[in-house]
Amino acid sequence: MKPTFLSLPIAATALLVVAVSALTAVAQAPQTAPPAGSPPMQMRSFPAPTNLQALPKDLTGQQVHEIMEKISGSLGSHCDTCHTADPNNLGPNGRPQINFADDSKPEKKTARLMILMAEEINKNYISKVDNSGMMVTCGTCHRGHLSPEPFVIPDEHGGPRPPAGAPPAGATPPSAN
Ligand code: HEC
Ligand code: HEC
Repeated sequence: MKPTFLSLPIAATALLVVAVSALTAVAQAPQTAPPAGSPPMQMRSFPAPTNLQALPKDLTGQQVHEIMEKISGSLGSHCDTCHTADPNNLGPNGRPQINFADDSKPEKKTARLMILMAEEINKNYISKVDNSGMMVTCGTCHRGHLSPEPFVIPDEHGGPRPPAGAPPAGATPPSAN
């Protein structure tokens, strides 16, 4: 079951992942044969998730990764916005690796609520109105920002009013409310 808040075709992300792996492969081309037993670049695998509480628990590591790429893009943020680095687990570059299953960041907890919220909005509300099939996604509200930008009503629809006592020439005075 694919969560409804992901309206983009999953194949698009799959392509992206393949493209990125291809780039990595090219960058490493001068190297001779890969170490014995290592999987080919295109087969890069993601470990199965162990701590899903909002997404369907049967997602594969690859599916979770694709969803996470979309969430990051929709919020204009990076993996470490919601995930914590583990100082006791240093990677090959000597930098702490991210522990994705860890729940200590408040942003991760908020994101879980948001996943459930978006599901509910689609299932219980959007699906009940006559619509084009468009679903509410993280990007519907966030539009590339961690905190959605406040919407400002454009002028011609009763947006920001001129300061009180200084109506523009010829304007009807604003009503009492
Ligand atoms: C806006 C917050 C947010 C961002 C940004 C984010 N994640 Fe996540 N991630 C979550 C949440 C929330 C969960 C848990 C989902 C659940 O409980 O069903 C999760 C779960 C995961 C898991 C599964 C961990 C496990 O074992 O259960 C992986 C792997 C993961 N994220 C990788 C990434 C990667 C890679 C990136 C960057 C490309 C990323 N995440 C960016 C919020 C985020
Ligand atoms: C219906 C609109 C809406 C949708 C859909 C939505 N969000 Fe949000 N989100 C908000 C609002 C509003 C806030 C509060 C922002 C604030 O107070 O600055 C927020 C806050 C957050 C925060 C906390 C930001 C911070 O500054 O700490 C995270 C993380 C987040 N959302 C993740 C998500 C993810 C992931 C999705 C998709 C699964 C999502 N949101 C979908 C409206 C939405």
